[in-house]
Amino acid sequence: MTICTKIFAHRGASRYAPENTMAAFKRAYHLGADGIELDVHLTRDHQVAVIHDENIKRTTNHSGLVNHFSLSELQRLDAGSWFHSQYNGEKIPSLEDVLQWIQHKHMTLNIELKTDVIHYHQIEEHVVSLIHKYNLEKQTILSSFNPATIERLNLIQSDIELAWLRQKRLKNIAYQLAAIGADSLHIHHRLLNTPMIQEIKSKQIPFRVYTVNKPKIWRQCVSQRANGIMTDIPDLLQE
Ligand code: G3P
Ligand code: MG
Repeated sequence: MTICTKIFAHRGASRYAPENTMAAFKRAYHLGADGIELDVHLTRDHQVAVIHDENIKRTTNHSGLVNHFSLSELQRLDAGSWFHSQYNGEKIPSLEDVLQWIQHKHMTLNIELKTDVIHYHQIEEHVVSLIHKYNLEKQTILSSFNPATIERLNLIQSDIELAWLRQKRLKNIAYQLAAIGADSLHIHHRLLNTPMIQEIKSKQIPFRVYTVNKPKIWRQCVSQRANGIMTDIPDLLQE
């Protein structure tokens, strides 16, 4: 059987290097991942920063909300030491840093817009305009748990794949995706064992699965012909 399930390094190769840093993305590249997944928020000066949480406390040497800092203030922080002293001084990347790095690589970029807790004014426009600046429309997937963000992205552009993130079951999937303009689904691996997967497959909806760190679940994704998985350990699963 040809394996069509692409491997995305979740927050970069985040088992080996601090999540959502260039070190983690470069590690994913060297491990041969097909793509990387990263998370974005907007800074006080409306720049797109790559970080998972709304608060910088867990992954830097400082605390406070991302949108209370300018990008240059954030980039002076240490985003690596919390993980291991070897990564002392690793920075929070801007989305632009990542786009510049990935633009000539054969890797797909999945940008997750974190808009569930804080409403970042026009984050959708900022992200899309950066992707267009680097001509990365065909190399990029935009995803979000927030359906309003998917709807907004669908309104402002038409050439980038939009994936709706779901951790709970969804009925009338094709109808609901069409209603917000999503092209695909990114589902929690628990949903692989629900009737939802039959509906996804019968309607031929492209889907990827997160966060898959166990070979058994990865094999399940392959046999269900998932389009991709997000994993913290891209090399373990490639074996
Ligand atoms: O994109 C899948 C996954 O990243 C969603 O969860 O919390 O790791 O961003 P989280
Ligand atoms: Mg994410």
